Amino acid sequence: MKQANRDELSDLKKNNLYRQIRVLKNSDGIHAEWRGEKITLFCGNDYLGLSRHPRVIRAAEQALKKYGVGAGAARLVSGSTTAHEALEKKIARLKNKERALVFGSGYLANLGILTAFAREGDTIIMDKLCHASLVDGARLSQAELRVFPHKKYEKCEAILHKSVGRRKILLTESVFSMDGDLADLKELVRLKKKYKALLVVDDAHGMGVIGKHGHGATEKFSKEIDIIMGTLSKSIGGLGGFVAADDPYVDYLVNFSRPFIFTTALPPVLSASALESLSVIEKETALRKKLWDNIRSIHVGLSEAGFVLGKPESAILPVMIGNEKRALEAFQSILKEGVFIPAIRHPTVAKGKARLRITVSASHTEADIRALLKAFKSYGKKEA
Ligand SMILES: Cc1ncc(COP(=O)(O)O)c(C=O)c1O
Repeated sequence: MKQANRDELSDLKKNNLYRQIRVLKNSDGIHAEWRGEKITLFCGNDYLGLSRHPRVIRAAEQALKKYGVGAGAARLVSGSTTAHEALEKKIARLKNKERALVFGSGYLANLGILTAFAREGDTIIMDKLCHASLVDGARLSQAELRVFPHKKYEKCEAILHKSVGRRKILLTESVFSMDGDLADLKELVRLKKKYKALLVVDDAHGMGVIGKHGHGATEKFSKEIDIIMGTLSKSIGGLGGFVAADDPYVDYLVNFSRPFIFTTALPPVLSASALESLSVIEKETALRKKLWDNIRSIHVGLSEAGFVLGKPESAILPVMIGNEKRALEAFQSILKEGVFIPAIRHPTVAKGKARLRITVSASHTEADIRALLKAFKSYGKKEA
């Protein structure tokens, strides 16, 4: 490797921004072992515990026997399966759209949407806290990229007002992945109508968690949002991404979205397991209730212990630390008490905005939550 690359890595270390993969033993997503000690995890996005749900596992086993491990080729090349078709029909129905299309991951879905619908001469207007996959998709598209400060919709409107792009694409997450707060979709729908923009909403962290029926943070506005993106890798518990939209948009993606066309399809086993997960989300509403009880218990417990948190609007509860070195110390302090929450640092969040990002699951027990609160209290005492 070149010296310049080595220097970059050592700079990361100096600035407390170095990352490493930690192998956890015997992990079930909630409990694991780390260096011989039992630990509890509050860092996954499997919000309903569906990756291990007996019905989902059974559906996957059956599909594995039927279809094998992989898809074999891209769907336009080798033909699609009934597993993909059934899943897309279900997603379209839950998202209140005419059609849906699945991708190999949520990251690919975002690249796929933006590179298909935006190009040179267009303007993409996005919230500052949008996920890296949206930023990367926007950059790849070669459209002009304009960023407005987080949820400052008056600034967003000023950009829309001045924009001379051929097509205006308004881009947001519904639930912001590192802050856990919600976009104001009502206001964004108003703006998209006023300025005739295409509204694209990434609902990766809303599906299964938010909405009267758990169909996502977009549930109330699904008809007015042009393109809804989601993933199969968070509350749905597997892997994959999707786009739900009316027929002409999906037809366009099938023909122009390179991350759909030029890569091997999502394995049918993951389509079948995702289909079963969606059925669990629809029928086992107690899971969503349990998730929200857990979110509230943690929010109340941490607030009583003196930690300042934002409103609990999703399953993501960040405890802001600020300085990167202090965030790593906080991670270590909490890990010593048997609770694993990696420090989120730049470039995932801005420099000086490091945090411990707690994510909550319906699978966490009362004992797990007690362990989390105890670990934070002991960290809080050290800091006082
Ligand atoms: C808001 C958001 N969009 C998209 C993605 C990408 O989804 P996936 O993990 O399925 O590739 C993520 C995942 O971290 C995300 O948080």
